[in-house]
Amino acid sequence: MLKESVRKELMAIAMDMNIRFDEPMREHTSLRIGGPADAFVTPTSADGLSALVKFCSAKGLENLMLGGGTNTLAADAGVKSIVIHSGGMDEIEIIRDVDGKVEMNVGTGLRLQGLLAYCKREGLSGLEGLTGVPGHVGGAIAGNAGSFGSSISDVLIDVVIMDSDGTIRTIKKEELSMGYRSATLPSGAMIMRAGMRFNRLQEGEVARRIQQYLITKKDTQPLDSLSAGCVFKNPQEDSAGRLLDAAGCKGMREGGIEVSSLHAGFFINTDEGNASDFLRLMDRTHVRVHEAFGISLEPEIKVIG
Ligand code: EPU
Repeated sequence: MLKESVRKELMAIAMDMNIRFDEPMREHTSLRIGGPADAFVTPTSADGLSALVKFCSAKGLENLMLGGGTNTLAADAGVKSIVIHSGGMDEIEIIRDVDGKVEMNVGTGLRLQGLLAYCKREGLSGLEGLTGVPGHVGGAIAGNAGSFGSSISDVLIDVVIMDSDGTIRTIKKEELSMGYRSATLPSGAMIMRAGMRFNRLQEGEVARRIQQYLITKKDTQPLDSLSAGCVFKNPQEDSAGRLLDAAGCKGMREGGIEVSSLHAGFFINTDEGNASDFLRLMDRTHVRVHEAFGISLEPEIKVIG
């Protein structure tokens, strides 16, 4: 919990920001799990974010950026940090539209599915494979989110970041060493917006592809349940879901958390499960796969707090 004096100082720099203290993280994660964050702040401009980041740095307060909270497990005891919610920075701006190539700036806090809806409307191709992937743009870039063999790095040109001292700079995609579900950002940096490039296709074509992906996803993944997406990364040349399934993990349960019977890579919060249940289930399934196949699965989800 923040001291009263720190709270007052934070309120004083609020500008355009919405600030909430002791905000339950379960309200902001797709798993609906997590205790209170010391402060939960939603800036809507670069100036606001800069003031906030400088304040944290001057006061020695830990901070982290949260987008959709979709690949995230927040601790039951809460998060002793200033959680900076990216949702207020969600603009889309076309900067070039020539010969079927469209470049745009996209705010870090735009929902990925909001961006896809825009692409569908405008016939812009490049992200269809990410149909149904939850979360915001910034988080998707930080973890190089992907699906069906494509990832957000396919459309990325560059990112504008804010360093922990409030400096704003642009980094080219090539400098982010983007790989399978990974990207390397400078330590303490926050993504503010991204430059992306799309191809304009014939009317209806992007919509058709998105619909096709959606059908496949709904058949194979528990999209309507409370989850954090795939819990473990795929090991090389294999699928974590397949391995978990083959090791007999489907239906395994700890408290309110259960391994999905549709896709074993997903753990579902079926009945007010908590982070401890989730971590115990990760341990047990990890051990099972290791015993069965000698493979040590690596977590894909991020644990905070
Ligand atoms: N499989 C099983 N049992 C299961 C799940 C899968 O036998 O419970 C088998 C499938 O039948 C298939 C193979 O495993 O033969 C691969 O399954 P799938 O096509 O569903 O892909 P995946 O490798 O399990 C990856 C990503 C997903 C992404 C899908 C579709 C990871 C860890 N998983 O899953 O991404 O949606 O491909 O492209 O990278 C995520 O990262 O959160 C995520 C959901």
